[in-house]
Amino acid sequence: MPAVVFAIPKGGSGKTTSAIVFGTEVARNGVPVVMIDADPNQTLTAWWKQSKKSGKVPENITVVTSDEVKARLRGEGGSQPETAAQIIMSHNKKGTLVVVDVEGVADLVMADAINVANLIVIPMKPMKPDFDGLKRILARIRTSEDQLSQVIGRKHHIKHAVLITQLRSQSIIGTGEREIIDAVRESGIKMISTLMLLRSAYAGLHIEGGDIATLNPQGNGNIKAALDEAGQIAADIMTVLKEPVVETVQ
Ligand SMILES: Nc1ncnc2c1ncn2[C@@H]1O[C@H](COP(=O)(O)OP(=O)(O)OP(=O)(O)O)[C@@H](O)[C@H]1O
Ligand SMILES: [Mg+2]
Repeated sequence: MPAVVFAIPKGGSGKTTSAIVFGTEVARNGVPVVMIDADPNQTLTAWWKQSKKSGKVPENITVVTSDEVKARLRGEGGSQPETAAQIIMSHNKKGTLVVVDVEGVADLVMADAINVANLIVIPMKPMKPDFDGLKRILARIRTSEDQLSQVIGRKHHIKHAVLITQLRSQSIIGTGEREIIDAVRESGIKMISTLMLLRSAYAGLHIEGGDIATLNPQGNGNIKAALDEAGQIAADIMTVLKEPVVETVQ
């Protein structure tokens, strides 16, 4: 099954949170998911450790921790050093979905992950710095597409879609936020149609571990609404993943 990479060279845009939400929702539907923490800051690994600590390890999920990725990149323990692309591909087995979380910087690991992704989800807040981050990752995707096209001798498209995250609420959305969402839409880049709101439940995942369904009903906002939204986002991403690749307008 495919590899879905959550990436944008902009910190705090919601990569790890949306990767956890997507991975846990797909796993809850019975699909085995391998999540790879390719970010040395270990946010995904911290969620995984917390899940273990609180006895909330979701079924069908395994996490390749940041330390394991680091050791494999360096070739520790007598093994050959692997590239991030090789690490991702090694987990890309039939019937398993691979979810990759990278650091918010445009480095070699991000470039490598882009090269082997079946879909890149670009999480962004509807704010100018995130919009600038979007432009940077699009440039990086174009470069990868050009390089891979030269190698294979025909046009190679790398599927990607924007996920709007951390929206305060659909109803109190400001002019600036609206303008950025419209600018993304008008640019012709594919968008995940469900917008991800700023929700205590999503923040609660980092604190409690586990998935949305196992969150403490106290202090995590409207869990039912979060579950509905998360299910919709996961379904939307799966739909985009299954669509044939189409040329985007730039
Ligand atoms: N939709 C959301 N609702 C509520 N809180 C959120 C949401 N998305 C992210 N957050 C919070 O914002 C913070 C940053 O999110 P996250 O770690 O997912 O971003 P990131 O892009 O992975 O950051 P980094 O670039 O540092 O890896 C986290 O503490 C998380 O709890
Ligand atoms: Mg992160």
